[in-house]
Amino acid sequence: MTISDSASGCLKTLSARLKTMTRKFRFSPRRRYYCAMMCATVMVLLVVAVIGYLLTGVYYCFDVLIEWKVSKICNQYYSNEITGYMCPELCAGDTISEFQCPYRNQAVLYPANPNRFLARKAQQYVVLKHAVPDVNYEQLSWIDSHRHEEHFPTETEYVGIVRRYIALRYDLQLPFDKLNSLLKLKNKNNHVLFHASMRNSWNLIQNNEYLLSRLYEEKEIFPQVIGTCGDLFLTELLETVEFDERRYHFTNHIDLSKWRYHIKVAVLILDYLEEMAQNRFQMCSVLLAGFGISDSRMKYHDLRYITTEASIDRKLSDGRWCESDADCAYYDCRSRCNTTLRQCTNRLLNNNLQIVCEKIFRGTASAPGILVTEKSPNRLLRILERCAKPVSKADIDSQRPWGASKMLKKQLYNELTSIYEQLASSIYS
Ligand SMILES: *[C@@H]1O[C@H](CO)[C@@H](O)[C@H](O)[C@H]1NC(C)=O
Repeated sequence: MTISDSASGCLKTLSARLKTMTRKFRFSPRRRYYCAMMCATVMVLLVVAVIGYLLTGVYYCFDVLIEWKVSKICNQYYSNEITGYMCPELCAGDTISEFQCPYRNQAVLYPANPNRFLARKAQQYVVLKHAVPDVNYEQLSWIDSHRHEEHFPTETEYVGIVRRYIALRYDLQLPFDKLNSLLKLKNKNNHVLFHASMRNSWNLIQNNEYLLSRLYEEKEIFPQVIGTCGDLFLTELLETVEFDERRYHFTNHIDLSKWRYHIKVAVLILDYLEEMAQNRFQMCSVLLAGFGISDSRMKYHDLRYITTEASIDRKLSDGRWCESDADCAYYDCRSRCNTTLRQCTNRLLNNNLQIVCEKIFRGTASAPGILVTEKSPNRLLRILERCAKPVSKADIDSQRPWGASKMLKKQLYNELTSIYEQLASSIYS
């Protein structure tokens, strides 16, 4: 009784206060004016913020939202909607923890990937990626309109679907054992869990980053996948190659030890391009910050723009409308516009080596690449120039008319290793 009494007393005083307050406002035009001004300012700021957000397309990441995302996925795991070998570990909350946004300084360098986060697993940081369906997403199950039941393919049908999907999209014929190790379907005796596991597997397989990492596991050219839970997957975090981005604003000077490091990284990148060439992969958005080292091997961490050459050829020559060559490009992968047809009908014209020479090694006058310093010999600079813009027949790739040739790559490689050896002898002599 006393509680409700005091509550109602409290309410009465509150309403009395409110009344005096509103009376004050009613009778004070100055206050009313201030209030209106404040409201207007807040509204204008809000509108500006929203428009700015939409125009800049900047992606804001909040640690809290990642925690929320993970806990949502764990709830789905507990209610048997999703499966995955990593779910128990992820949802227990002690082995995998400290979910957070990508480091701020890195976020500036990459084209933001809104589905990539960091987490800690035991003593190491790992990358958490969310395979969010994109525009090309294909449904696996269908719902019949009569009984409103969801129908899934059988396991054999599913294996066939995945095999055809990979053959069509990547122009790759997978051996049977590779396909089976990729699928790893769980709970074959439980109808509900089996369908959930099939749906998760299908979501992951349609994610380029997951698929390439898994298919080329033993080649060690992409970040290794550590585990999956639903459509989340965990990969290793690469050690980024460290460069001082600001050094050129003041001087072209570089320490000998740093210069040696630049040469070494360049050689590792050339080795990486060799791997790409052997597996017929094309990189379409190449950034220095995308390279990272794992167990002293160079890898590239952002696989959103890496795919097979066949797939890029098809993408570039899809016949879309164009006015200039730029309309037929896909990030750094370039092609020509057929100006009579006004259609993109050509395949890829440049290649990985040309892109890396132009963007990473040579750079531009305002942002020189890692091989353009006061210590760069002229011979190296000339090779870089030819590699970024191949003109002579010997410098042009036999397959790609805007690409740099294998012979040029060999020259660059020899030049770099000889500089490296000279530096080594000069440092230790
Ligand atoms: C454009 O396409 C037409 C028809 O395929 C072809 O004959 C012509 O040579 C092409 N032109 C260019 C500039 O590629």
